[in-house]
Amino acid sequence: MSITVDNIYKRYGKLQVLDGISVIIKEGEITGFTGRNGCGKTTFLSILAGVERPNSGQVIFPKGEYSAAYLPQVNPLIEDMTVLDNLKLWADDKYNIDKICARYDLNDIKKRRVSKLSGGMKRRLAIACALINEPQLLIMDEPTAALDILYKSLIHKEMMDYIERGGTIVMVTHEKEEIQMCNSAYFIENGKLRNVN
Ligand SMILES: Nc1ncnc2c1ncn2[C@@H]1O[C@H](COP(=O)(O)OP(=O)(O)OP(=O)(O)O)[C@@H](O)[C@H]1O
Ligand SMILES: [Mg+2]
Repeated sequence: MSITVDNIYKRYGKLQVLDGISVIIKEGEITGFTGRNGCGKTTFLSILAGVERPNSGQVIFPKGEYSAAYLPQVNPLIEDMTVLDNLKLWADDKYNIDKICARYDLNDIKKRRVSKLSGGMKRRLAIACALINEPQLLIMDEPTAALDILYKSLIHKEMMDYIERGGTIVMVTHEKEEIQMCNSAYFIENGKLRNVN
C-alpha cells in the first residue's frame, strides 16, 4: 500500500510553484523533501494533506479508511488554552494524554497557557498533538526547526519508533541529519523533483 502523487501542478497567480510533481510515498518509510526557501515545499505538503487543492493532478490514497496527521510549518495550537487542553482537543482518550506528556517531556508545562511557552516548547506540543492518536501517515513540515539539540534527538527517536510500529512519514526538512534518516529524499527545484540520494 502506498500513496501516489500523480503529476501535481500548482500556481499562485502567475507564479508556477509546482510544475508536474509525481512521486510514490511508500508505506512504512520516511520520504523527505528539501530545497531552497520558497521552492514550494509547504505548498506540496499542504496539497498532500488535502489543505490546498492543486490546479491539476491528484493524490491517490489506499482504498478504505486511512488516518493521517499533518504538522504544518506554523504550529496549529490554540494560544489561549493550556498545553493539556490543546492535547485534549486532539486525543481519543485520557490514556493517550498521560502517555504522550511523558514521552514528549510535557508534564512540567502541561498546566501552562500556550501563549506563555517558548517556540521549542510549542513545537514539541504540536508534534505531540499530531502523534497522539497514532495516525497511519504523519506529514510534517520542518518538524524540528525550533528545537534544541536534545529535543531534536528525542523527536528523531520518536520518529524512528513510530516507523518501527509500522507508521509512514512524509516530511519537509532543511536538516542534513533528517535527510539521512529518509528512505527516499528529493529536492524540489523549479517546481520539479530531483533525487537527493
Ligand atoms: N497562499 C499563497 N498565495 C500566494 N503565493 C503563495 C502562497 N503560498 C505560498 N506562496 C508562494 O509560493 C512559493 C512557495 O512557497 P512555500 O511556502 O511552498 O515555500 P517553501 O519551500 O515551503 O519555503 P520555506 O523553506 O521558506 O518554508 C513562494 O514564492 C510563496 O511566496
Ligand atoms: Mg515551508
